[in-house]
Amino acid sequence: MKTIVSGMRPTGNLHLGSYFGALKNFIRLQQEANCYFFVADYHSLTTHPNPTNLHQSVKTVLAQYIACGLDPEKATVYIQSQVPEVVELYMFLNMNAYLGELERVTSFKDKVRQNPQNVNAGLLTYPTLMAADILLHKADAVPVGKDQEQHLEMTRTFANRFNHMYQVDYFKEPIAWNFGNELVKVPGLDGSGKMSKSEAESATIYLVDEPSVLKKKIMRAKTDAGPQEPNSPKSVEIENLFSLMKLVSKSEVIEQFDKAYADCSIRYGDLKKQLAEDMENFIAPIRERIHEMESNTEYLSRIAKEGCDNAIASAQQTIREVR
Ligand code: ADP
Ligand code: TRP
Repeated sequence: MKTIVSGMRPTGNLHLGSYFGALKNFIRLQQEANCYFFVADYHSLTTHPNPTNLHQSVKTVLAQYIACGLDPEKATVYIQSQVPEVVELYMFLNMNAYLGELERVTSFKDKVRQNPQNVNAGLLTYPTLMAADILLHKADAVPVGKDQEQHLEMTRTFANRFNHMYQVDYFKEPIAWNFGNELVKVPGLDGSGKMSKSEAESATIYLVDEPSVLKKKIMRAKTDAGPQEPNSPKSVEIENLFSLMKLVSKSEVIEQFDKAYADCSIRYGDLKKQLAEDMENFIAPIRERIHEMESNTEYLSRIAKEGCDNAIASAQQTIREVR
C-alpha cells in the first residue's frame, strides 16, 4: 500500500486554492492509501506569529480540514509539533543541505524580497523541515499545489543524498501528487497570480465566506473590455473566471458561456452571477460543517491525540533506523 503525506500551515482560514490544490486530492487518497495529514505549525514559526493566535489557528484549521472531509478514521491526522521526532530528522537532513541550493529556492527568494528584515535560518531551511515531514513516514506521494513542486524536488534530492552517503536504499523518492494530469494552480479574483491568503482579502475565496461576502468578491472580480471580435483569445482575468467556474459549475453551463464569449454575446455580469451562485452552492454545506465542527472541541482534541500517537509510532521507527 502506498504512503501519502501532506500538511498545511495553520495561517488563517482555508481558501479555495488550498482545498482544490491539496486537500481534495488527499481526501480522495485516504480511501485507498496509508495517509498522514498534519497541521504544519512549526513551519509557521518562520514569521514569528503571536503564540495565542498560533494555538488558536491550529484548532481552527483542524476543524476546517475535518469539515472538508478529512476523515480521522481513515487517515492519521496530527499536529506537527506534537511529533518532535520530525525535528531530529530535520537536523540530520540539514547536515547535508547546502547554502547555495537553499538560497536558490523560489519561495525563499520571494520571502526575502517581501520581508528583507526577517531572513532567518528557519526560513532558509524551510525545505529541509518539509522534507523531514515527508520522509519521516517514507511517503510515496504528497498531494500539494503547483507552488510546492520545487520543495518536492528538494525532498527527493535530500532523500537521494542520504541514501548515497550511507550506501543504503532507505528513503523513497516522493512525488507531488494530483489526480489530474498536472498540479493545480487556482487563480485569485484580481487577475494576477494564484489564490493565496497573502494576496488581497478580496481576491481570495474562503470556505467560511458568508453568501453576501462571497457574492461581493465575485461581482467585483477584475474583467476586461469584452471580446472585440469572434473567437479571440481570453485575457488572463477572464481565463481566471473560467478556471474558477470549472471547479464548481456544470460542464453545460461552462460551454454556454464559452460559446457566448466566442460569438461576443457574453455579459460578464451574467458570468459572475452564475459563478457566485455555483460557488455558494459548493461552499454552503462545507461552511455549515465548519461551524458545527468548530464548537466540537472535545472531539477535535481526541482525534488530534489519537493521530499523534499513530504518527509518533511511525516516526520513532524511522528515527531509530536513521540513527
Ligand atoms: P497560501 O498560498 O494561501 O499560503 P498554503 O501555503 O497554506 O496556502 O497552501 C497549502 C496547500 O495548498 C499547498 O499544498 C499549496 O500548494 C496549496 N495551494 C494553496 N494555494 C493554492 C492555489 N491557489 N492553487 C493550488 N494550490 C494551492
Ligand atoms: N510547504 C507547504 C505549504 O506551504 C506546507 C507543508 C509543510 C507541507 N510540510 C509539508 C506540505 C509536507 C506537504 C508535505 O503549503
